[in-house]
Amino acid sequence: MTKTVTLIPGDGIGTDVTNSVKEVIKALGTDIEWEVAEAGEKVMEEKGTPLPEDVLESVRRNKVALKGPLTTPVGTGFRSVNVALRKELDLYANVRPNLSLPGLDLRYNDIDLIIFRENTEDLYAGVEHRVGKHAAESIKIITREGTERICRLAFEQAKELGRKHVTVVHKANIMKFTDGLFVDVFYEVAKDYENDFEEIDDRIVDNMSMQLVMKPELYDVMVCPNLYGDILSDLCAGLTGGLGVAPGANIGDDLALFEPVHGSAPKYAGQNRANPLATLLSAKNMLDYMGHEEDASRMQAGIEAALRSPETRTKDLGGTAGTKEFTQAIVSNLP
Ligand code: NAI
Repeated sequence: MTKTVTLIPGDGIGTDVTNSVKEVIKALGTDIEWEVAEAGEKVMEEKGTPLPEDVLESVRRNKVALKGPLTTPVGTGFRSVNVALRKELDLYANVRPNLSLPGLDLRYNDIDLIIFRENTEDLYAGVEHRVGKHAAESIKIITREGTERICRLAFEQAKELGRKHVTVVHKANIMKFTDGLFVDVFYEVAKDYENDFEEIDDRIVDNMSMQLVMKPELYDVMVCPNLYGDILSDLCAGLTGGLGVAPGANIGDDLALFEPVHGSAPKYAGQNRANPLATLLSAKNMLDYMGHEEDASRMQAGIEAALRSPETRTKDLGGTAGTKEFTQAIVSNLP
């Protein structure tokens, strides 16, 4: 039966990278129909809101969505549509795998890390205000409920994937109440999984940043509050070839929205310059989630074949191909 999936192309390079996914999925012949829902900067100009209600309705109806990046003005203007989508749809887990792909000239060729980032709380709850003219405050929110569900989902998925080591990342030495609660709840949940892992431990976020750069092989699965998860996932993207290759998924109890980790890179919009790989890998994970495992592995094989030669990979990966040429190479290498 044809399954309808919401497609939010997004801003900047969003159309370039989601067009690439449409082409590859068409060539795979997967039984998917796209329902396009526009959000972001350009919609703000037309409709006065960057996140019209019909976008949320579409995701709620279809239960699965693929999203390109959405621009957020810095300092002023509307609040992040990404944060709003995650909060409105209660997509509480941001799952960001980082894997060294074969054929690339990488700093590390054996990275296989997954970050589970809490997606609805922390300093991203948006509770901030000015205090007079010369000060501002932002409130960091961590709840038992919010922490428990991200930790449980992380342990469950890590167990299903046969992972061996789960680490919670925090700054509980300084933020004793908020990060302290996050760590306490992590260890409470961990009691149910003691026999499933070789190691369950914690690291302070600054130390973790250094360790990930120097000895990433020591880590496996990380569970983080929202802000640290956001920052560390870009760091991990840097270990495996940059933002052009890092996929992500926002998961709720019965909804899932797949998206690349990167932003809208406006300078490359419409230039045939953007690397669509992060969005393609997000779509590949979406196919797995939807039960189209065979098409997902065919897509992976096409991607790996296209990455082998510099003529068919994009410039950020040391190649010479544009978005379209790379996409075409994947299509012609699909098994
Ligand atoms: P960015 O991810 O757009 O760009 C950072 C750097 O990576 C730039 O040099 C860019 O050219 C490069 N880059 C990113 N994706 C690439 C790709 N697919 N192919 C080749 N090069 C790529 O981050 P930046 O500049 O901080 O943010 C731009 C806008 O994107 C902002 O409005 C920001 O709020 C938004 N953003 C949206 C996200 C989302 O929709 N999930 C995530 C991160 C940022």
